[in-house]
Amino acid sequence: MKVADISKVVAIEKECFSTPWSYDSFVLELTSPITFYLVAVDEKDRIVGYGGMWLVLDEANITNIGVAVDTRGKGVASLILEGLISKAILIGIKEVNLEVRESNIGAYRLYSGFGFKETGRRKGYYQKPSEDALLLTLDLEMEV
Ligand SMILES: CC(C)(COP(=O)(O)OP(=O)(O)OC[C@H]1O[C@@H](n2cnc3c(N)ncnc32)[C@H](O)[C@@H]1OP(=O)(O)O)[C@@H](O)C(=O)NCCC(=O)NCCS
Repeated sequence: MKVADISKVVAIEKECFSTPWSYDSFVLELTSPITFYLVAVDEKDRIVGYGGMWLVLDEANITNIGVAVDTRGKGVASLILEGLISKAILIGIKEVNLEVRESNIGAYRLYSGFGFKETGRRKGYYQKPSEDALLLTLDLEMEV
């Protein structure tokens, strides 16, 4: 993801989340030395999804994955997640963590399919509506 991509990314982010990150939040993420963000593009080079993570020591935390509503169900999120996990493996990350809304069955299935396991719960983590987060973890040491 480049700064020039952010406007489109924010448009998709608004389709995806009830408390979307702002343009400036993404600028900050891209300028941070501990982050990795990518975009997925279609055959016409249009951005259809994005994802990112924080990388601290040997642990990664996926911040968000979003796919444009009209492009869902075609494997785009799987490609994004593959890209993030590949990067994590490449730089020696041992564990990937993320939070997901308890009611977000689609995302839960996506992550389970990649081997993420439920390792905790954060009470009232989300707003609009208030909801618990499930903490999911992928142990990369177990994967290799
Ligand atoms: C969740 C999300 C990222 C999935 O994107 P996608 O490109 O449609 O996902 P994929 O096509 O790669 O699906 C991969 C797997 O995820 C699961 N999945 C995805 N969407 C699903 C849904 N609506 N219902 C059930 N399972 C779903 C399935 O297991 C699917 O595998 P399958 O197609 O073999 O059944 C997308 O719906 C989205 O952007 N949602 C809003 C934002 C969000 O919830 N992000 C994740 C939390 S950070």
